[in-house]
Amino acid sequence: MILVTGANGMVGSYVKEIFHDVELALTDIPEMDVTNKDLVFSLVAKYKPTTVLHLAAETNVDKCESEIDHAFRTNAMGTYNVALACQKFNAVMIYISTGGVFNGHAGQIHTEFDSPAPLNIYSKAKYEGELIVRDLLHKYYIFRAGWMIGGGSAKDKKFVGKIIELCKTRDEIEVVNDKFGSPTFARDFLRGINKIIKTGNFGLYHLANTGVCSRYEIALEIVKLLGREVMIIPVSSDRFPLPAQRAASEAIKNYKLDLLGINPMPSWKQALEEYIKEWGT
Ligand SMILES: NC(=O)c1ccc[n+]([C@@H]2O[C@H](COP(=O)([O-])OP(=O)(O)OC[C@H]3O[C@@H](n4cnc5c(N)ncnc54)[C@H](OP(=O)(O)O)[C@@H]3O)[C@@H](O)[C@H]2O)c1
Repeated sequence: MILVTGANGMVGSYVKEIFHDVELALTDIPEMDVTNKDLVFSLVAKYKPTTVLHLAAETNVDKCESEIDHAFRTNAMGTYNVALACQKFNAVMIYISTGGVFNGHAGQIHTEFDSPAPLNIYSKAKYEGELIVRDLLHKYYIFRAGWMIGGGSAKDKKFVGKIIELCKTRDEIEVVNDKFGSPTFARDFLRGINKIIKTGNFGLYHLANTGVCSRYEIALEIVKLLGREVMIIPVSSDRFPLPAQRAASEAIKNYKLDLLGINPMPSWKQALEEYIKEWGT
């Protein structure tokens, strides 16, 4: 039995498909608010999962910057509650973190052996979550994802979803070309997790689609895949000031999985093609 928190989100929308052969308890706020320790303990006691897939988080990076208590309460202390419950009920914990824990310069690609230096509140709280899991548990997996892609028209509030929507109404779109990352298609991500947790090799892993790109390069690829006549104009990030600072590079490489010879992730362009094909279906 896998108990999933935050199951109604982008990544959660692929859980039933990928874990189709496993008994699942899918939970989300409010019936399982991870900031409420009693609720977390009562649901983990009720389902007695062998594994908890902890997806619940406040993922709005700019909101985290202005609502600092909310960010730490949800992303750090919520993770603390889930980790304590896993400790008490002897469940394996799967925690999802982010390449945003790094503050890299343009061109830098981070491995699991690089030191995090989170720049904004969201990333600090997510990194605290990692430390909590590592402090409290022996049987855990931490998977750092890159820029998440997924959820389709109903749930994609992130960059790819926004560009697809803008392409419907615009002839030109300005997109920043000085921020680099690693796109991560949620379906590939969960497929990867499903494989890796079967190895019993607990620990921290980077798990993104392979390759690194700028937001600008992703937008160019989206327009190409959609077959639309939209001009993508490269601009500096100064053009769109945001509340939360972003690193020039939060790109990650699945280095441990490469070294183990079990890196299951396709390239970001293949992933984007699969996603665009099924968009809206
Ligand atoms: N999205 C990305 O780019 C990205 C990148 C790297 C890592 N991650 C990590 O991947 C994981 C899954 O993220 P996602 O992309 O699926 O994000 P998402 O679409 O925002 O899903 C998160 C889910 O958690 C729920 N949630 C929020 N607060 C909660 C609480 N207190 N208790 C229980 N559930 C709560 C959300 O509900 P509401 O919608 O009602 O708030 C939502 O259903 C998260 O740990 C995230 O930090 C995401």
